[in-house]
Amino acid sequence: MSAQSVPVLEEYISEEKISNRIKQIAKKLNKDYKDKNPIFIGILNGSFIFLADLIREIKVDCEMDFLKLSSYGDDKISSGDVKLLKDLNCQIENRHIIIIEDIVDSGLSLKFIKNIIEIKNPASLRFVSLLFKKNISNLDFKVDYIGFKIKNEFVIGYGLDYAQKYRNLKGIYVLKSIN
Ligand code: IMP
Ligand code: MG
Repeated sequence: MSAQSVPVLEEYISEEKISNRIKQIAKKLNKDYKDKNPIFIGILNGSFIFLADLIREIKVDCEMDFLKLSSYGDDKISSGDVKLLKDLNCQIENRHIIIIEDIVDSGLSLKFIKNIIEIKNPASLRFVSLLFKKNISNLDFKVDYIGFKIKNEFVIGYGLDYAQKYRNLKGIYVLKSIN
C-alpha cells in the first residue's frame, strides 16, 4: 500500500460470530482435555486476543506459555523463512500441548512449531487456529480445531495485523485499498 492510499476495511467476521465460535471450540476442548492439565501455547503476536478470549471459556485446569515467531516482516506474503524470536519457558515432556494460532496461511509456521515441539516428547500435540486459508494451506497434518475456513484474502483485526497496525479491531476485516 502506498503512503497516499486510503485503507478500506470490509467487515468479514463480526465480533459476535467470533465470540460464538470460540465458545463452541472451548466446549470441545473442555471435553477433550478433562483431567489432562494441558499447556496452551499461544503464538505471538497474532494469537494474543484469540487466546485471551478462548482461555476464559476453558473450565479445566490448564497452563499457558508463548512462542514468538516471525516470517512476514511488514509484508503480506510469508518470506518462507520462519524464525524463533522467543522460546518456551515450560517443560513439554509428557505434557498435553495445545498450540493456539491466529491464522494458518502457507502452513510454514505450523510445520516449524510442530518440529520444535515434537522433539521435546509431549504426551500429545494438537493445533487450534481461529482462521484457516483453505485455498493455500498445504499441510501434511491436520489442524484439529478451526474457527473459520476463509478464502485467500489478507485479513486484519482481532489480533491480526498489517505492518503492525489494526490488531486492536474487535472484528475481522479484509484490508482493501483505494488510491
Ligand atoms: P503461515 O506460516 O504462512 O501459515 O502464516 C502464519 C502467520 O502469518 C500467522 O500466524 C499470521 O501471523 C500471519 N498471517 C498469515 N496470513 C495473514 C493474514 O491474512 N493477515 C494477517 N496475518 C497473516
Ligand atoms: Mg501468527
